[in-house]
Parts: sequence; C-alpha cells; structure tokens
Amino acid sequence: MQGTVTSVSKARVGERFEELVSKHPLWQNPLLVACSKNELSLKDYGYLIAQHFYYSRGFTRLLSALMMQCDDDKFRAELSHNLWEEAGEENMEERHSNLLRKMMNDVFDIANPDGTDFKTYTVTYFDECLRFLKNTNSIGAAAFLGWGTEGVVANIYEYWFEGLKGLGVEEEALRYLSLHMECDDEHAEVIENIALSQCNDDVSSHAQEIEAAINKALDLRDEYFRAIYQDITTAKIEPLVSAICGKQPYYKVEDVPLFSSSLTQNSGVKLYSNQQQDDGINFEVSRFNIGCEVMDPRLLEIPEGCRNECHKHAHESMFYVVSGEGRVHIADEHIEVSAGQLIYVPRWVDHYSENTGEGKLTILAITDFGLTKHFSNNTDFSYRKKQQEQVA
Ligand SMILES: [Fe+2]
Ligand SMILES: [Fe+2]
Repeated sequence: MQGTVTSVSKARVGERFEELVSKHPLWQNPLLVACSKNELSLKDYGYLIAQHFYYSRGFTRLLSALMMQCDDDKFRAELSHNLWEEAGEENMEERHSNLLRKMMNDVFDIANPDGTDFKTYTVTYFDECLRFLKNTNSIGAAAFLGWGTEGVVANIYEYWFEGLKGLGVEEEALRYLSLHMECDDEHAEVIENIALSQCNDDVSSHAQEIEAAINKALDLRDEYFRAIYQDITTAKIEPLVSAICGKQPYYKVEDVPLFSSSLTQNSGVKLYSNQQQDDGINFEVSRFNIGCEVMDPRLLEIPEGCRNECHKHAHESMFYVVSGEGRVHIADEHIEVSAGQLIYVPRWVDHYSENTGEGKLTILAITDFGLTKHFSNNTDFSYRKKQQEQVA
C-alpha cells in the first residue's frame, strides 16, 4: 500500500498546485477571452465544440492510461468509478461522449459528429496527452490529468455554457456542459488525491514533477485553443480575402454613395471621448461610417492645452493633421506636428497626442480597424483605467 496523506494536509498542499493552475497563461488565451467577451457566434462555437468532440470521445482512453500507470488497486478502483460515470453508469446511451453527440445535433445541427473534419492540431493535442500519460509515472500522470486537465474543464465549460446561453441556447440543450461543470471538480479531486497519496507524506520532494506535469497539460491546451482561435478568426476574414483574391469590386456606387467630407467638427459619428481634468485629458473621437471594408477613418479633436490617453491597439494608423499644432508621442519618441503633416503609428505601440498650440488640434486617423476588429483583444483597454500611471 502506498503512503497516505490526511485530507486536511492534502487540501493544504493541493493549494499550491491550484495556484499554479490559476496563474497559467491559459486563462488569457484569446479563445477564452473571445468567449468571455461574447465575440463568438453560434457557428464559431459549432466549430470549437466539433473539434473538442475528438477529445471528449477519447477521454476514457486518457483515464485508462492513468489507470494503467497505477500500481495500487485502490487507486484503480477509484478511477474505475470515474470511468463508470463517464460511461453513463447503467445507461450506456448516457455516456458523456454520447451526450456531446446529442448536444452537437440539437444545438449545431451536426448530425454526424464522428464525421467531423478533425484538424491535425486536434488529433495532435489528444495524442500528446495520451503520450505523456503513457510515458510518465503514476504521480506525473495523475497530476497531468487531475490539476492539468479535469481540474480546468469545469471552468472552461462554464465559458462555453455562458457564451452559448448568451446566444439564446436553452440550458437544457447544454446538459453535456452543465453536467461536467457539476461533476468534474469531484473527478479532478479523486485524481489529485491519487497524486498526493503517492508522495509518502513528502509532497515537496515530488513538487517539481507534479508542477511540470500540470504545466505540460496546460501548455498543450493553451496551444490547442490558440490554433482553434486562429481558425475561427481566419474564417471571419475569409470573405474579405476571397473578395481581394477574386478581384471582386467591393465598393458599389449604387449601394454606397460616394463619400466626401470637409472634415469639419461633428463630421463623423461620435465614437469615444474622455475628460480627466487632473491629467489634462480631454478629447473626442468620431468615426466616418462610409462603408469601408478595412480602412476606418476617424477624427480626433483635442482642445487647447489638452491631450488624449496613452493607449495601444491592434490597428495601425496614419495620422493627418487637419488643423492646429501639437506633439504626437509614439513609444519613447515624439514628433512636433502642425497642419498638413502625416504621421504613421504602428500596431501595438503606446501613443498619445497633445495639443501644444492655440485653438483646437484636429487629426484625421485612417486605420485598418476593419481588419483588426475581427481579432479578439484588439485594444489594450487597461490604459484607460490607469490614467495616473500612463503619464509617468
Ligand atoms: Fe465526461
Ligand atoms: Fe490610437
């Protein structure tokens, strides 16, 4: 029989691994960010869940691989209980993989989930999980599958569950997700305890291998979700790419009237403004809604003695100074500007503009936001909340 750890001390030593999980970059993964910001459509979720089906369908193989690594028959008995639940208990039709098949059919109209075109990265993700479990010892395998996999599933499913509910899907149709949100913490606990119980009261001497196994599981999932996110984003810009490659004229005079503006005040639609008197921040941004596909012309107006916030975003910008005098700060540099000047601001570089002259500073900013808007997390809004720090 392996060494045992009391449940109180188990909970305490387990906390350090839970903290490791909570700090992993997985939680900033663009796919999860897009879910939390309600940026995914039903079609996007359909793609995501169809790929995930490959993992779900094979999950009992992962559990079996861990079982195979356990010398102790008590641990195998505990795992067989997890397997029993996965298999739907008395009713085989209720096995989890089948509940997902039903959800795919009901919610996404996918009649044959097994016929999905599983991407190479989907198959690789699963194979890598299986390979790790087969080639490590029972402590590493339990850590991988406990904290690193089962321990995060309930949380991840909650993102999907809330996202789909927000799109109007009935909770009843999402039983596969809600069921796991309820039972996977318990499943994870069983597996985590298997890892801890084998440490013979000396978790610290095994901490490194446990942490390495957890990180491996989370890294693999992070990479996998990034690949899915990239495909979802590519699908969104595909019509644009097709139009460009297919030499399709987008701008049709009969649909969209020819655009012309004198760039006077209020010539666009108000988009964003902010006033923070203590910091000298005072500006207004308006947008010209002229049906551009990629270009996004905006007018930035800054009163005398004021500036806008330091910020950065995914779109690149070409500034044309319409009137006034000022200073455009880009990263650690700045450029003195006046009417008629053109300034380029690259993507993801801190920048702000200040009015150093008399009267208003007006800048026309032409950006490629029409392209970058399809990407989640395309603006770093944190700067808008930390105006004291940005000046330093
Ligand atoms: Fe399951
Ligand atoms: Fe900007």
